[in-house]
Amino acid sequence: MNYKRHTVTAALPYANGPLHIGHLAGCYLPADIYVRYLRLKGDDVIFICGSDEHGVPITIKAKKEGITPQQVVDKYHKLMGDTFSDFGISFDIYSRTSGKVHHETASDFFKTLYAKQIFREEVTEQYYDEKAKQFLADRYIVGTCPKCGNENAYGDQCEKCGTSLSPTELINPRSTLSGEKPVLKKTKNWFLPLDKMQPDIERYIETHKDWKTNVYGQCKSWLNQGLQARAMTRDLDWGVKVPVEGAEGKVLYVWFDAPIGYISATKELVEEKRKSNPQSKTLDWTLYWKDKETRLVHFIGKDNIVFHCIIFPAMLMAHGNYILPDNVPANEFLNLEGDKISTSRNWAVWLHEYLIDFKNKQDVLRYVLCSNAPETKDNDFTWKDFQAKNNNELVAILGNFVNRTLVLTEKYYNGIVPEADTLTNNDLALLDEILQFPKKISSSLDAFRFREALAELMNMARAGNKYLADNEPWKMASTNDARVRTVMNISLQIAANLTVLMEPFLPHSAKKLSTLLNLHNLKWSDTNRTDLLKPGHKLGKAELLYDKIEDIEIEKQIQKLIDSKKMNDSQMPQPAADAQAALQQPKPDITFDDFSKMDIRVGTIVEAERVPKTDKLLKLTIDTGIDRRTVVSGIAGFYNPENIIGQKVSLLVNLAPRTIKGITSQGMILMAENSNGELSFVSPTKQNSNNGSVIK
Ligand code: MF3
Ligand code: ZN
Repeated sequence: MNYKRHTVTAALPYANGPLHIGHLAGCYLPADIYVRYLRLKGDDVIFICGSDEHGVPITIKAKKEGITPQQVVDKYHKLMGDTFSDFGISFDIYSRTSGKVHHETASDFFKTLYAKQIFREEVTEQYYDEKAKQFLADRYIVGTCPKCGNENAYGDQCEKCGTSLSPTELINPRSTLSGEKPVLKKTKNWFLPLDKMQPDIERYIETHKDWKTNVYGQCKSWLNQGLQARAMTRDLDWGVKVPVEGAEGKVLYVWFDAPIGYISATKELVEEKRKSNPQSKTLDWTLYWKDKETRLVHFIGKDNIVFHCIIFPAMLMAHGNYILPDNVPANEFLNLEGDKISTSRNWAVWLHEYLIDFKNKQDVLRYVLCSNAPETKDNDFTWKDFQAKNNNELVAILGNFVNRTLVLTEKYYNGIVPEADTLTNNDLALLDEILQFPKKISSSLDAFRFREALAELMNMARAGNKYLADNEPWKMASTNDARVRTVMNISLQIAANLTVLMEPFLPHSAKKLSTLLNLHNLKWSDTNRTDLLKPGHKLGKAELLYDKIEDIEIEKQIQKLIDSKKMNDSQMPQPAADAQAALQQPKPDITFDDFSKMDIRVGTIVEAERVPKTDKLLKLTIDTGIDRRTVVSGIAGFYNPENIIGQKVSLLVNLAPRTIKGITSQGMILMAENSNGELSFVSPTKQNSNNGSVIK
């Protein structure tokens, strides 16, 4: 089928935390590469994303931090939007689901389904917290896991043994709001009858055997198990209000409203275009969602498959008049140094932090994440591999080819493109080879095989490098001008083609290369030519595209991860007793009065630096709620100063001051020591233990 236009979406990320490399690798980078490619081909495409701002995790986060859900999403919406644009993720719009247009759109969508009597109204019994006077979402209920006995399993899942649960399966359930035992109470909700819709959905999935095997396979497995009706409303107060009578205190299920966010964002985008461009006056958002000649493609991570391949299409079918997703390229997960990425364990490479440590190296991360993308199976990101791919591929192959070409042209011809002389058979063979690459890259991109496409791009740069090495123009500079002109001209044409072909993957460096070549606004179709740079054309000044990354920068990143593991271990309840420590005799009894002489407070480390000429000591500035004071602490062997800023500590504040290495230390931080002599912080874990709180 030949499509007239494309609507490409990338999953709306939850606005409850910063973005990490897993987000980029799983969804946003492939989507961006694809869209940039379509744009270069001159296709009509819109690229849609925004923040998913509803759902229970956001309300939990707000409660924990003592702020409103709106404050949570405001903060992360801004941070995520900035991060995306820093990495060159080129959405046409980055919207949000707490916006007015979205609330109206989602609400209308529900009303249409309601009017068509699609929903099944059902009264079920749900856990209710009588003290907090509200129904409890699964995540607000904890209890003992019936499978493994973990006492802190959630109402939807036990994180210890991984079992999926429903709240009523928990033994001794308690509400995380009040700690009380919840009671079952009747409530009415509206269900999408997926069971009844199964035949239609099956027919739809069957027309998409072309989907990636992981995606098609997951759909089949859902269908084989038999679809079940799913509630599209929830008893919750954060979200899009259910727009029918008798639904007070209820909101739309977050997975009902979020994908509609793609539609709302399209409306907003089209409205913006109409305002800013008079020629777009007739543009209509329905073209992108209702016209059969539009191709709808959703980029997502694998945990989103059922929602995009089954539930959202079912909603669209039930509504009527909408096109259905034509493809849903979903990636598997990216791990980090052999371990699952985890926000709560701080096991992640945060994108906004990467940008501080590796300024202007967005394309390096884009390159590494694409060449190692978890397209067909989970994959691992390691810092060593990151360094190797930068130094041995970007610098040594692509960067080196471009740089040699530019520097030699500058040296021999003052930066002016020389005219080629007669081409040899070898030259012709090379040009022939070069002209194959755009086709190979296109067909890989068309099939969503981004790693393969990128590998071909690098092969093209390799071919260029080999051509230079084989012909050694530097050896003939004074003896065979005609030959040198030819070799340099051909090398420059390859560089010009690379500018276009690398743009989807490496947009920042493509832009730079355009400037170096003084060649702009090329299209994908220009890559079938080898005369993009005309003789006499003046190039810009040669500059390196990529720099080597040194060991020390990588060690710093690895240390950061080690620290976060330590920090994390120190906060995790460690059930196993430390055998050695258990052998230590308890100290003699003291009186309560003895104990109460100690003034121990909660404090926060606000500054930290090494004490010069020592390897154990850190000089810390601690905000104790009473004052800011200096404490010298022997923890340098276990923590890096830059990683403990913001760490909460327990501080003995009335220890008589002591001078250590010429610094007056006012107090002592409590640390736990295991039998290996490793120290970790003893710190309150609740967010609401403010500086100055008394520990007793
Ligand atoms: N917020 C979801 C996640 O991060 C994705 C939502 S995609 C949408 O997993 F289609 F619902 F918007
Ligand atoms: Zn369990």
